Amino acid sequence: IITCAAQQTVVIGLAADSGCGKSTFMRRLTSVFGGAAEPPKGGNPDSNTLISDMTTVICLDDYHSLDRTGRKEKGVTALDPRANDFDLMYEQVKALKSGIAVEKPIYNHVTGLLDAPELIQPPKILVIEGLHPMFDERVRDLLDFSIYLDISNEVKFAWKIQRDMAERGHSLESIKASIEARKPDFDAFIDPQKQYADAVIEVLPTQLIPDDNEGKVLRVRLIMKEGVKYFSPVYLFDEGSTISWIPCGRKLTCSYPGINFNYQPDSYFDNEVSVVEMDGQFDRLDELIYVESHLSNLSTKFYGEVTQQMLKHADFPGSNNGTGLFQTIVGLKIRDLYEQLIANKATAPSEAAKA
Ligand code: ADP
Ligand code: G6P
Repeated sequence: IITCAAQQTVVIGLAADSGCGKSTFMRRLTSVFGGAAEPPKGGNPDSNTLISDMTTVICLDDYHSLDRTGRKEKGVTALDPRANDFDLMYEQVKALKSGIAVEKPIYNHVTGLLDAPELIQPPKILVIEGLHPMFDERVRDLLDFSIYLDISNEVKFAWKIQRDMAERGHSLESIKASIEARKPDFDAFIDPQKQYADAVIEVLPTQLIPDDNEGKVLRVRLIMKEGVKYFSPVYLFDEGSTISWIPCGRKLTCSYPGINFNYQPDSYFDNEVSVVEMDGQFDRLDELIYVESHLSNLSTKFYGEVTQQMLKHADFPGSNNGTGLFQTIVGLKIRDLYEQLIANKATAPSEAAKA
């Protein structure tokens, strides 16, 4: 008997601390798949889920087992595994992956309480984003691809100041204190997940300005694991070589402090990786095509697609530097991975029939 290959869901994990650019990344990713993701219609207005034709993005805060009061009483933070229900996370991601809808809880960020659950249908691509997508081994094994956004403390601080002081009226001291208070749990439970990621986007202060502490100009590294099925790393000029490139000159306008690219093979934890690095920022986004034309293995569908995506979302944070560029590239690699996985599944039954 030949059964129709069931439409299986591809599962992507995106890990980062909060305030580190996950939602921005998700907007870039869903745009690559053609269409903005919206909150589910007719459900709880405080739902954290975003749905488009192709993708459903679930926020893992929904698997908090302790609400805000519960965390206060027990003296644990949201980063602590004891505040999260990994059994339920595993059960539901597994169900969705095999095509079964689930009633997922909702963590209400306004009230700090757990609301009535919402029905989530199995999508083509499920993204689980949050603090712990790669923490639990069972959940980790369900991921077809995983990403870690690694924002250095200096940069995290600069972003938080920008947001919390300007928009929320917090003081410098209270921002410092809240980052310090999170640090032990962050180091214990969040940061170690990066060793499992297929791609890491590392965001560091620039090296182009001596003793820079403004955190405006960034050095961003895209660390890509070698040997991952359906994922072949991007490279600059010649695969496997070590390259340092300053694209500024006749073809690319750069103002102070300029732009520096690096590419090299490296190791990361116990894995062989390729690293593409960009330090500095673009003056003119339309000239990005010049840089794009020197990168290979981008998984674009047409010449200039990276530049087009970047121009389309020029107003998103990080569009003029490596954060936006590498998020866009990872989005294209995920589309490619998805298409290969689906193509492979479609041919699998006939292969089996031949055997
Ligand atoms: P998360 O979803 O992880 O909480 P967001 O994508 O909402 O993070 O970003 C939180 C804030 O961090 C943004 O409002 C912005 O101020 C800052 N931010 C995020 N990404 C960048 C970036 N690439 N460059 C500069 N600032 C950024
Ligand atoms: C969510 C976020 C955490 C944040 C928490 C606030 O769970 O993902 O990063 O720390 O909310 O928790 P609190 O106990 O301060 O309300």
